[in-house]
Amino acid sequence: MTQKRTSAGILGTGWCVPEKTVTNSDLEKMVDTSDAWIVERTGIHERHVAAEGQPVSDLAERAARMALEDAGVAAEDLDLIIVATLTSDRIIPSTACILQDRLGAKKAAAFDLSAACSGFAYGAAVASQFIAGGVYRHVLVIGAETLSKVVDWTDRNTCILFGDGAGAAVFGPVEDGYGLLGFDLGSDGSGGDVLDIPASGSLHPVTKEALEAHQQYIHMDGKAVFRFAVKIMGHTVEEALKKSNHTKEELDWLVPHQANIRIIDSAAKRLELPMEKVIINIEKYGNMSAASIPVALAEAAHAHRFKKGDLIALAGFGAGLTWASCIVKWAKED
Ligand code: UT7
Repeated sequence: MTQKRTSAGILGTGWCVPEKTVTNSDLEKMVDTSDAWIVERTGIHERHVAAEGQPVSDLAERAARMALEDAGVAAEDLDLIIVATLTSDRIIPSTACILQDRLGAKKAAAFDLSAACSGFAYGAAVASQFIAGGVYRHVLVIGAETLSKVVDWTDRNTCILFGDGAGAAVFGPVEDGYGLLGFDLGSDGSGGDVLDIPASGSLHPVTKEALEAHQQYIHMDGKAVFRFAVKIMGHTVEEALKKSNHTKEELDWLVPHQANIRIIDSAAKRLELPMEKVIINIEKYGNMSAASIPVALAEAAHAHRFKKGDLIALAGFGAGLTWASCIVKWAKED
């Protein structure tokens, strides 16, 4: 006899961005760029950046507290905390452990997840499996980044793109047939060099020479990432839809990773979704890597854009290379 699986869905969401903004005109004073170029090529107008000394755990904690309150779940009732990030406070301890302590999540296991901009969707898939299998009941998944601290503010190829923020969702049991219906996770490590931080680990430790060569910052072949993204975004959603026994015609919303408005546009076209059905906040925040999807999701949820039963696709891609999509049937009453 097979055991019945629990339907796992989103019980509550939250987000946080730091107060300080850097506009395109601020960037015009720092590198050889223009507001017109940035808006036309990316869709970004401004991004938020963390204060000096403000770690990613600070943003993550605020987003987490909001999500817990929205879900009506106490921190003591969390079984697991997953933080998707590439800018953890320190390599060890994990940012998830820092939050476990700060939130008072006494019985929770905790780990960080490394899948770059796909991290939140990877985390959502992991959370749903623990809940569906009856292992855990409440899982907090956070995507949080302080990319401003690993961006080279003298490199116009990258510094115009990224921003800081955190988004969180509490996953738990929902009504049968609702919640996370299916997902598609993927990777292609052969593309690892097109987007990396060269001096950040055991291969190239941070030495004086590495610092002088700006190797501690994000390096990116933008065109290569762009080509990959345009191919993978629509494809991964189609795969997740197949696994969920749904079709693109049934999709109500796309919550995409916010890397470039042109990439989002091309995914929407492939899925034949009008742009009104796509959650977009790139103009305010830029690319917040793992935080992009959960911030967009939380903002849309708190603006009452989703109604119970809506079919929502979360879709991300990023360094690794990685990609991930989840199909969620919204379970919350408005
Ligand atoms: O989360 C995943 C991470 N990253 C991404 O998803 C990024 C994906 N890639 C992209 O979004 C785009 O490739 C970029 C926005 C990074 C670049 O846009 P593009 O249309 O691919 O521009 P390009 O690199 O082909 O550059 C076009 C021109 C070049 O000048 P020339 O050679 O035509 O004279 C660049 O030097 O624009 C120049 N350029 C800039 N000009 C003004 C490059 N960056 C800038 C800039 N301001 N910031």
